[in-house]
Amino acid sequence: MSNTIIDGVDFGPLALLPGLWKGEKGMDIAPESDGSAEENPFHEEILFEVVGDVTNAGKQTLAVIRYHQKVYRKSDNQQFHDQIGYWIWDGTEQTVMFTLTIPRAVALVAGGPFDLNSIKDRSAFISVESEEGSDWGVAQSPFMRDNAKTKGFKIEMKIDGENLSYSQTTFLDIYGRAVDHTDKSQLLRV
Ligand code: HEM
Repeated sequence: MSNTIIDGVDFGPLALLPGLWKGEKGMDIAPESDGSAEENPFHEEILFEVVGDVTNAGKQTLAVIRYHQKVYRKSDNQQFHDQIGYWIWDGTEQTVMFTLTIPRAVALVAGGPFDLNSIKDRSAFISVESEEGSDWGVAQSPFMRDNAKTKGFKIEMKIDGENLSYSQTTFLDIYGRAVDHTDKSQLLRV
């Protein structure tokens, strides 16, 4: 990739993100109380905005992109998922970090290594993970911990010019069993 710098800050692979993206091909698979899996085709939009750089403890410099994701069920066009957070690039450690907050009272921090040499032209593959109790952890309300626990999360995202796709799994413990709650989507920058 020729240029990872925005407003004088090096965003690494995250320089590919800023803008408004829209997707019509999403598929969510979520748990149902009767043990079945609910399949929900969705459309969505994700707005990625440049925040800039931040410094932690006087020595860690990070480049930060804020995002807001709004997801709508295709069957009735009602919004059924809302998510906010940050994509964060640590150029010194060559690490991508990701945070999410959802209005179920669940939040998490995920991370993963990223090799800058893997960026080809305007294309990059980013993968970050979070696991309850690990260095990249999950925080949730007592109710969610006891009834619909998020044990872990992983997202793999591919950006290729004006195309973005992701595949993510939220590892849940709900209704007395382990359930993989998955989402896949493809978006275009508008
Ligand atoms: C495109 C993204 C997502 C969509 C469309 C989505 C949609 C859904 C749906 C339809 C349910 C079933 C319950 C209901 O109808 O409200 C559900 C449950 C749940 N989701 Fe998601 N979800 C997404 C991402 C996430 C993420 C990223 C997390 C957390 C890391 C998460 C955590 C949960 C939890 C904890 C439940 C269980 C709550 C319950 O069913 O009582 N979801 N989600």
